[in-house]
Amino acid sequence: MLLHVNQLSIHFHARQGIVKAVEDVSFDLAEGETLGIVGESGCGKTVTALSLLRLISNPPGIIAGGEIFFQGRNLLKLSEKEMCDIRGNHMAMIFQEPMTALHPVLTVGRQVREPLIVHKKAVRKTAVQDCIRLLKRVRIPDADTRLHDYPHQFSGGMRQRVMVAMGLACNPKLIIADEPTTGLDVTLQAELLEFMKGLTQTEKTALVLITHDLGIVACYADQVMIMYAGRIVEKAPTLELYRAPQHPYTQGLLASIPRLDQDIQQKLRPIEGQPPDMANLPSGCAFHPRCPHAKPRCMRELPKLMQISTGHDVACWMHSR
Ligand SMILES: Nc1ncnc2c1ncn2[C@@H]1O[C@H](COP(=O)(O)OP(=O)(O)OP(=O)(O)O)[C@@H](O)[C@H]1O
Ligand SMILES: [Mg+2]
Repeated sequence: MLLHVNQLSIHFHARQGIVKAVEDVSFDLAEGETLGIVGESGCGKTVTALSLLRLISNPPGIIAGGEIFFQGRNLLKLSEKEMCDIRGNHMAMIFQEPMTALHPVLTVGRQVREPLIVHKKAVRKTAVQDCIRLLKRVRIPDADTRLHDYPHQFSGGMRQRVMVAMGLACNPKLIIADEPTTGLDVTLQAELLEFMKGLTQTEKTALVLITHDLGIVACYADQVMIMYAGRIVEKAPTLELYRAPQHPYTQGLLASIPRLDQDIQQKLRPIEGQPPDMANLPSGCAFHPRCPHAKPRCMRELPKLMQISTGHDVACWMHSR
């Protein structure tokens, strides 16, 4: 097992109170495997991803509990120096917002080169060549000249691809891609995802793929984790999740997207209501105010994640005793 996350909880001390952004999250990831993390905005996807690299700033954030084992080492116990070696060298993150993740006054070339110089101790000349190779790999046209440009001179899609190039620079064992294809047109989106999928097959790189797009997850993930209000509500192998979704939230997500095998007269069914205020969560199951199957018990008690078949876990009173 490459990555083993056990009962991870991350809280933020915000003005509106304690935000339990991630609560009791556990998952495993093997080499070459892809885990899709899906959920509405604010449900804790990015915070989960950042915690794997120990990038939650304290204050306001605190890892309130849990363990993260990567290649058998508990990351929460490592020194900052050891953690620096892991970041970039073994684990890389493709950030959600390339304009804020890229430094505005450093050229693209300098930023893509940096991990090679810091982690691989490459000399400048070979680092430049490797940088051009990486930019070409993510289809930046005229890479040899464009590496002298600044991020604002690139389009949104190109900036996103620069983030991917930086992530790949040191051949990490794990890539965490936070909405890596948002803002890309569909052909580039498919090309980039195919490219990352290729890495999982040839280099045995593991991939955590965070997205709102259930279509992308269906194509590229081996297992899927559905999050709601900081907790995992359902986790299953991808085919199983799409074939037989069990949690009413997962069922709602799948019913709200169009399907080719569906009658075109049939209307899409959005999930009623709004995602909850994370500083003031509903009692019991946080999904109960929006759930069509809610019972009095759902308002009082929080359902635990229970295994209903091999690798398929659900947190819902419909499946718990
Ligand atoms: N630095 C912070 N201070 C206070 N609260 C924070 C901080 N960072 C994140 N949060 C809170 O943690 C929760 C989870 O945020 P997160 O960024 O993980 O959401 P997300 O699932 O990635 O959403 P999106 O799909 O919009 O990217 C949110 O309620 C957010 O307000
Ligand atoms: Mg996010």
